[in-house]
Amino acid sequence: MCFRSLTLTTSLLCASALVVAGDELVDTPSDPSELPQGRLVYGEYMATAGDCIACHTRPGGKPFEGGLRIDTPFGTLYTPNITPSKDDGIGAFSDQDFLHALQDGISPSGLPYYPALPYPFYTKVEDEDLLAIKDYLMSLEPSSYQPPKNDLRWPFSVRDLMFGWQEVYFDKGRFASDPSRGEEWNRGAYLVEGLGHCGSCHTPRNMAGATEPSQAMTGAIIDGWYAPNLTSDLGEGLGRWTVDELAVFLQTGMAPADLDSSEPDAGAAPATAALGPMAEVAHDSLSKLALSDLRAIAVYLKDLPPNTELNHRPKRPEVLTEAAYEQGRELYVKNCSACHQDHGQGLQPYFPALRGNPVVNDERPNDLIKTLLLGAPSDPSEAFSRHVVMPSFGSVLTDEQIAILASYLRANWGNDAPPVTAHAVEALRQ
Ligand code: HEC
Ligand code: HEC
Ligand code: HEC
Repeated sequence: MCFRSLTLTTSLLCASALVVAGDELVDTPSDPSELPQGRLVYGEYMATAGDCIACHTRPGGKPFEGGLRIDTPFGTLYTPNITPSKDDGIGAFSDQDFLHALQDGISPSGLPYYPALPYPFYTKVEDEDLLAIKDYLMSLEPSSYQPPKNDLRWPFSVRDLMFGWQEVYFDKGRFASDPSRGEEWNRGAYLVEGLGHCGSCHTPRNMAGATEPSQAMTGAIIDGWYAPNLTSDLGEGLGRWTVDELAVFLQTGMAPADLDSSEPDAGAAPATAALGPMAEVAHDSLSKLALSDLRAIAVYLKDLPPNTELNHRPKRPEVLTEAAYEQGRELYVKNCSACHQDHGQGLQPYFPALRGNPVVNDERPNDLIKTLLLGAPSDPSEAFSRHVVMPSFGSVLTDEQIAILASYLRANWGNDAPPVTAHAVEALRQ
């Protein structure tokens, strides 16, 4: 929960984290001058809230030197180097250049950026917060790494085209706080809508790759994973989570479960672990934020009006045949029950329960299938050292076996979701 890279500063924020562990709310460092190395600590904190490191670091590369490959429907982009190198990074950016890039999506040479840089979210962020991030970035070691050239399909390779895109889809402007809401709600809204760019994964996109405001936070597919509905809908969304449960999930990547109940409680938030892209968000960003900010995020999310227009969960699963059920049970006992336990009840905090689990029960089985194919890291937050990972079964089980196993999980222990086809597994395998 402490900053990984900036040892000078760990004292203060780690001290906060300790207080957090004692269940007390800690103020975020809002007055940089009161902190040791104040402005840089604050800048690093805000860069963490924006998860800049996730996109601007390639596997095996140095932080912020770029080169991460991002595949879009329009071709492949490589993230730029944002270390202070004058030739290869952003060392020559003025404060105005930096603000213009992140708030307006325009480069110092006057050309538009592709929205793979989430400027449609960062446009909401105050100047002073972005400039603190800039000062932090400028305090890092310059790197002369040069990322590969983008490979976008014509006509998307023509940057000027993005002027038109911005005209139609880009709603520029800072976050306006709502005076009818409390401070906590407004802080949460500022973080979620701005630096946190949660909607970049949790909001569906249209054909032009822009997020749909009318379906904000109703759930979307990202790299084959399903980022679920975060509105307060009771069935699909976060309606059953309490603010505290949500804050703990954001901080640790694990949702708390009621250990004592032997039957799944239909009204309670089930245990689940952050997976795939969300495990990275938890690891790189959310687990390092002050609990007061995570609570603010939770308060804001819990207040999003329920919206399930697109996502109707079917009432009951089609019934599995006796033979498929038996085959699923055998696969479960052989491959899974040692960790997830005989009745899918899991073992907190090591192995999430599979009964009542939202990943298992989601109408879209994407995250369940992806987890079975790829496994899961087990430690999104470094909050626990559980030392156990979820193994990958992609090379152990066939598409047919994964489909049968997944269907068994979805129809057992009170779980209630339609079966999975081998075709769906095959489609996510590549
Ligand atoms: C989801 C991925 C993603 C995240 C998160 C992200 N960026 Fe970027 N960023 C990009 C991409 C992609 C580009 C290049 C866009 C283009 O070429 O049009 C870029 C470009 C930039 C540039 C312009 C660099 C140049 O040489 O012109 C700056 C500055 C920048 N990002 C800063 C940040 C900061 C600061 C954060 C965190 C607050 C951040 N980025 C978070 C993907 C991301
Ligand atoms: C060696 C122990 C182990 C085995 C065997 C194992 N798992 Fe897991 N599983 C885990 C751990 C640990 C996690 C949590 C990963 C994390 O925190 O990211 C997990 C997570 C999951 C999740 C995601 C749950 C959530 O809410 O995020 C699913 C679904 C799952 N396992 C299903 C299975 C199935 C089905 C099998 C059998 C084919 C299986 N697991 C076998 C350890 C195991
Ligand atoms: C890079 C994409 C990405 C970003 C950015 C992202 N998420 Fe997620 N999120 C996912 C995916 C994929 C899942 C589903 C896998 C899982 O359950 O962990 C998920 C799951 C969740 C869940 C669990 C929901 C459930 O019903 O199980 C919560 C809560 C959540 N995200 C909150 C957030 C918040 C708050 C933010 C912004 C601070 C955010 N996410 C940003 C991709 C993302």
